[in-house]
Amino acid sequence: MNTRILLFISFIMAASAARAADGEFRPGEVWSDTDGTPIQAHSAGILVSGGKYFWFGEDKTLGDRNRRGISCYSSTDLYNWKNEGLALPKEAMPEKFRDWGIVERPKVIFNPHSHRFVMWMHLDDSGYHAASAGIATSDKPTGPFTFAKQLRPIGDDFGYKDDDPNKQKQLGGTYRDMNLFVDDDGKAYAFYSSEGNATMYVVCLDDNFTGPETPAVPGKNWARLFVGKFREAPAPFKFGKRYYLITSGCTGWSPNAANYAVADNILGPWETKTNPCVGPDAEKTFHAQSTFVLPVAGKPGSFIFMADRWNKDKLEDSRYVWLPLIIKPDRSFTLEWRDKWDLSVFQ
Ligand code: DGJ
Repeated sequence: MNTRILLFISFIMAASAARAADGEFRPGEVWSDTDGTPIQAHSAGILVSGGKYFWFGEDKTLGDRNRRGISCYSSTDLYNWKNEGLALPKEAMPEKFRDWGIVERPKVIFNPHSHRFVMWMHLDDSGYHAASAGIATSDKPTGPFTFAKQLRPIGDDFGYKDDDPNKQKQLGGTYRDMNLFVDDDGKAYAFYSSEGNATMYVVCLDDNFTGPETPAVPGKNWARLFVGKFREAPAPFKFGKRYYLITSGCTGWSPNAANYAVADNILGPWETKTNPCVGPDAEKTFHAQSTFVLPVAGKPGSFIFMADRWNKDKLEDSRYVWLPLIIKPDRSFTLEWRDKWDLSVFQ
C-alpha cells in the first residue's frame, strides 16, 4: 500500500474515533462537538432554556487548574453539542483563581426576578484554602458572564481552630464541591461540601440567587447533612415530592463508591440509602464521579445521571459518563453500565 493511501486510512480512523455520537451516548468514549473537537466541559451542569440545552463545565484543554475558564456548549437533542466558547473566561475572574488557581463544578440557573442567568462555582487558590463560592451573572445563557462576588455562605463556627488553614473561624465554613437545585416553588438551593469537606450543606438562596437567604437560620433556610461523613460531588434531583441526592466519597481524582440519600424536606432529615450502581465496577461508580442529574423532558421519573471519568495524569482527557436513571415503583433506582444507549430507553 502506498504512503498516501496509508495516511488517508489513518486519517479516517482517527476522525471516526473522535467523532460525536450522532444519535447515541457512548459513556467513557471521546465525545466530540459539532466541529469534531473533543468536548471540554468537565464537572458538567446543564441549563435548559428557550428549548435548548446548555452544558457548562471546566475547560481543561491546557491541563489541570483554571487555565482557560468555564466553557459552554449548546444542543437541541443532547447528543450533538455546539461549542459556544468560554462563558466565563479566566481573565474575567480574580487573579488568584486563574492559571494555578481553581474554578470547579460551575452550575447555571435562571433567575425570574432579575431575568439573569446566574452561575455558581467553587473557587480556590492554588493551596485549596480559599474554598469559596464564586457567583457570576449574564443576560444570555452563553455569556459572557460577569464575575460578581466570592463568598462563604454560612459563617457559623463549629469549633474551628484558630490556626485552621482554611480560616473557617474567621470566614465561615469552606465551600468546595457544589451543585444548585431549583425547587418547584421557585426557591433555589446550593448543595456543597463544607467544614473541610466533612459535612454537606444545603443552603437556600436569596431572591436573586446571588447569595444565601439572610439571616441564615439552621433548619429554616439551611442545614448540615451527613455530618462528618466526608461526601462530595453532590447531584440533587426531585421526583414527585421526594428529594434525591447522589454523592461520592472524598478520594481526590480517584473513583470511589457513590451513594444516594432521600428526603421529604430539602433541609432534611435525609436518609442515606445504598450505592445505586450495580454490576461490574459498581464500587467505583464505573470509574467516574457524579456531577449532575438531568430530568428527561416529558418523561416523569426518567433522568440522565452525568459523571466525570477523571484521568488524573491527563485531566484534559477525562471522559463523560452519562447513564439512564429511572425511578422504580418502590421509588428506588439503580445505575447500570451501558456501552451505548439512546433516549428511547425512556418509554
Ligand atoms: C474531587 C472533586 O470532586 C473534584 O471536583 C476535584 O476537586 C478533585 N477532588 C481534586 O482532587
